[in-house]
Amino acid sequence: MTNKRPVYLVTGAAKGIGLATVQRLAPQAEHVVMNVHRPIVTEHWAALTAIYPNISQLVADVGDAKQAEQLVNETIARHGRIDGLVNNAGITRDQLVMRMSTTDFMAVLQTNLVGAFNVLKPTLKQMLRQRSGAIVNVASVIGSHGNVGQANYAASKAGLVGLTKTVAREGARRQVRCNAVAPGMIATAMTDALPEAIRQQTLTEIPLKRFGQPEEIATAIDFLLHQPYLTGQVLTVDGGMTM
Ligand code: NAI
Repeated sequence: MTNKRPVYLVTGAAKGIGLATVQRLAPQAEHVVMNVHRPIVTEHWAALTAIYPNISQLVADVGDAKQAEQLVNETIARHGRIDGLVNNAGITRDQLVMRMSTTDFMAVLQTNLVGAFNVLKPTLKQMLRQRSGAIVNVASVIGSHGNVGQANYAASKAGLVGLTKTVAREGARRQVRCNAVAPGMIATAMTDALPEAIRQQTLTEIPLKRFGQPEEIATAIDFLLHQPYLTGQVLTVDGGMTM
């Protein structure tokens, strides 16, 4: 991090954990660029920018290498640098392995893992040049524990951990850090889509007896971005679910 107020880029930032992260980072930032898959609707955007004047949105599908590179280049062109990147964009396409199509397997890998790589690569180039910067990849407890119906998602999140540790090793010589957060069950659109019976069953497996809030993951991301002696780590934030 530089002495100036930092510039952050958060992917998949329109809602959920991404939006909570933007709201957490904006008050301490020079600027937060929100990558969105589709533009945020006008009334919502007006309300957000009234509270956080130092945010902007850039549309890109992170799974598309060209769009991801343009996203990073545009961020650097407008703001001169990137001090923190949060690779948050993610999707699910759940199905048992025996019924999962290769198309659905690849779609989840493309957004969750290749998408993170697509944004990370040009960002890392800039951070190595700056000789500073921090990256946080949003993984999942499913990446280390697996879950029925989520082979594609688990594989993508496990892959993110390997990516994180490798980038941590490659970036360290220039003081660029890379860590991951592994959330458990967080109350967002992603978990709202689960059937009620599965939600109730999952609650019995969480010692703290509730789903986490997006803001609680944003706090962890903020910590990982700013703890200067932390790199190559995966911080699990799951209410005790996987201890
Ligand atoms: P969400 O569905 O509310 O947010 C996901 C965001 O990613 C959306 O804004 C969506 O537009 C964006 N996105 C999807 N595909 C994209 C693409 N190709 N390019 C750019 N943006 C794209 O879900 P949530 O829960 O906020 O998820 C955020 C991250 O947290 C994801 O990586 C997810 O896997 C991870 N996570 C979520 C957990 C949960 O319980 N909600 C648990 C563990 C990890």
